[in-house]
Amino acid sequence: MKHYLSINDVDSLPAWVEEAITLKQNPLQDNALGKGKTICLLFFNNSLRTRLSTQKAAMNLGMEVMVMNFGSEGWILEYEDGTIMDQGTSEHIKEAARVVSQYCNVVAIRAFAKLKDKAKDEAEEVLTGFAKYASVPVVNMESSTAHPLQALADAITLKEFNTKINPKVVLSWAPHPKALPHAVANSFVEMMKLQNANFVITHPEGYELNSEITKGCTIEHDQKRALENADFVYVKNWSSYSEYGKVLKQDSSWMMTQAKLGGAKFMHCLPVRRNVVVEDAVLDGDQSLVVHQANNRTFSAQIVLKKILESL
Ligand code: CP
Repeated sequence: MKHYLSINDVDSLPAWVEEAITLKQNPLQDNALGKGKTICLLFFNNSLRTRLSTQKAAMNLGMEVMVMNFGSEGWILEYEDGTIMDQGTSEHIKEAARVVSQYCNVVAIRAFAKLKDKAKDEAEEVLTGFAKYASVPVVNMESSTAHPLQALADAITLKEFNTKINPKVVLSWAPHPKALPHAVANSFVEMMKLQNANFVITHPEGYELNSEITKGCTIEHDQKRALENADFVYVKNWSSYSEYGKVLKQDSSWMMTQAKLGGAKFMHCLPVRRNVVVEDAVLDGDQSLVVHQANNRTFSAQIVLKKILESL
């Protein structure tokens, strides 16, 4: 595997999930694999889980880790070809990616959507710029349109807690005061399309995700009907895709409650705003899998890095 940019870069999701669950029993089993190898983590945006779990995964594999908060500490990069760089940008992605590649064996990037210009966000200039010009493998730690390390962790969590051949899994939109990107929801949908499950997406009208991604999925605008007999409920806010980046409504009736959840397991990628996205009773109850999901971020990163190291 050259890069891990999308959940679709996984050649067999069931096999990777099984291998990640095995790794979890003995996280240091491949500790010699990364000896003498370095990963560079570049953050253009904030993080808690991604930063620490990816470092932990790399350390479990015996790698050295370098972390840079590029968004606040790096030079402002230029991504366009042929630009006369007499304005705000100081360094071109062509040099930056090649230079970083000399310091490490793998580079991982976090660069969120700015939610101002759909075409620009969908071009994924930071991630694809590094993938194009770096001479080492690139890992996506959440880009404008995808969060495949989270989706892989979610697949591991589903496998660990599922007891059915065909579970009902619901992705439900929830309110949020800020405009949030579509990356987590997109990758969760892409991952669910690789699963045996009765998968339903529910959101208010106007919050349709990219139809190229949700093609073939069941979409139900009535949240109550969508949640009937659910085994897993994955809650996430995202801003409008059609009215790109806009918050169309903050309807608190879409907040997840214990009464709505019924007997289902609750999932969320975190961070989560209590009593806005989901009520305390859900997060404090034993149906919540959010801390398990966060733990599985280490093993999703570790299986990805293991596959990359094996291919070097
Ligand atoms: N879920 C997730 O990616 O968390 P962070 O933004 O804290 O890394």
